[in-house]
Amino acid sequence: MSYFSENRDRILDELFEWLRIPTISALPEYRSDMLQGADWIAGHLDHIGLENVQILATSSEDSPPIVYADWLNAGADAPTVLMYGHYDVQPPDPLEQWETAPFDPTIRDGKIFARGANDNKGQHFILLKAIESILKQNEQLPNIKFFLEGEEEIGGVHLATFIKNNTELLGADICVISDTPMLSPTQPSIITGLRGLVYMQIDVTVTDTDMHSGHYGGNVHNPAQVLAWIVSKLKDESGVVLVPGFYDDVKEWSLEERSKINEVDMTPEEIQENTGAKVLFGESDYSPIERFGIRPTLDVNGIWGGFSGVGAKTVIPATAGAKVSMRMVAHQNPEKIEQAFRAYVESLIPDGVEVTITTLSKDKAIIIDPTSDYFQHAVDALTDVFGVEPKYVMEGGSIPVGGHIKEDLGIDTIYMGFGLVDDQLHAPNEKFNIEMIDKGIESARTLLQKLAS
Ligand code: BES
Ligand code: MN
Repeated sequence: MSYFSENRDRILDELFEWLRIPTISALPEYRSDMLQGADWIAGHLDHIGLENVQILATSSEDSPPIVYADWLNAGADAPTVLMYGHYDVQPPDPLEQWETAPFDPTIRDGKIFARGANDNKGQHFILLKAIESILKQNEQLPNIKFFLEGEEEIGGVHLATFIKNNTELLGADICVISDTPMLSPTQPSIITGLRGLVYMQIDVTVTDTDMHSGHYGGNVHNPAQVLAWIVSKLKDESGVVLVPGFYDDVKEWSLEERSKINEVDMTPEEIQENTGAKVLFGESDYSPIERFGIRPTLDVNGIWGGFSGVGAKTVIPATAGAKVSMRMVAHQNPEKIEQAFRAYVESLIPDGVEVTITTLSKDKAIIIDPTSDYFQHAVDALTDVFGVEPKYVMEGGSIPVGGHIKEDLGIDTIYMGFGLVDDQLHAPNEKFNIEMIDKGIESARTLLQKLAS
């Protein structure tokens, strides 16, 4: 019997308690919940048998703390495994689309529905329960350092500084993160690449105050219109990003490499079905798998300005704005892309209109070497538990910490996650398959034991 099935009710109770704390990093009114979350998870790290538990401030007083704990009793010859999770979650809106409340975890059809059920509370809980099981059963564990942050979902900038300033505390031989999906409950996969992200905001201002659109319409620029002009020139109707130089450094993959990437068991039809969209749309020279694995892209994440209430209001808004993010792939330099974006948007601004361009975050893509011994241990662990070898997948999402871990601690990260592609991350009715928690704990246990011996 697996560790999860022997302890199912208790583990689910604990996870539900964790999911009930609304640790929404994006919204300032949840600040005290963030602190309560840090306390709760610190208590839990202690509870499972980790030592030296600490709640550590970042360089900014307003940012949620880092939570750290370790277990360093495996001896100097054993490797040290750094593990990471994020305790913040995305805002749950639109609330009316949730079948049950986002912070009241509910099981339906073998799945836990709640904000954070997968991303990332359910996932890091798997790693914690794997450690707990080994400590409880006196099995072999490598040295462990576990840390969690509370700003992953907002592309927080404080973690990078924290890692730079704490290289000794966090120093390890390899990092393991569970924050990615698998292809299916019967087809495991392991991540060989993640995209980076450059996140920008554009604010357009024409006047200090809204104006009557009859009295002034036709005589002044309308910021919403100016914004629309700018946004419409960022990407064309065939899905190609128009920022000059955007594709300059993008790694070209050989046909052989591309056919390998396309071996993943995920048909365009399945991807379309998961989205609910009527058609897939993207660069026509690339398959849907390639579009999120090896191609960069640009998306408008939000756009505002003027009147959007019920009925009609004849007004020229004073301001308008948009949030635009770009996913980076191998060899693209986020600094260079940020500069190219700024220069291009500036070139599109009409005379006399004020446009502010703000950078919210910038992180590069992560490419993983699948030939390393550590990676192969993870492949073996997944093969042992699932009975089939994992497929290698390049994912489209971003987990910024991996880049800082590589740069400042000099070590690689194994991304071994247990979500499923239809888990509704960042969307209403986020869920996590209970079967994946079970298999996840077994896989993480197996990996840790392989690393220990
Ligand atoms: N768990 C996701 C990352 C992810 C999602 C990886 C899907 C692979 C597939 C993570 O919590 C996340 O959402 N990251 C953000 C980072 C951003 C705010 C810098 C993302 O990818 O949008
Ligand atoms: Mn996320």
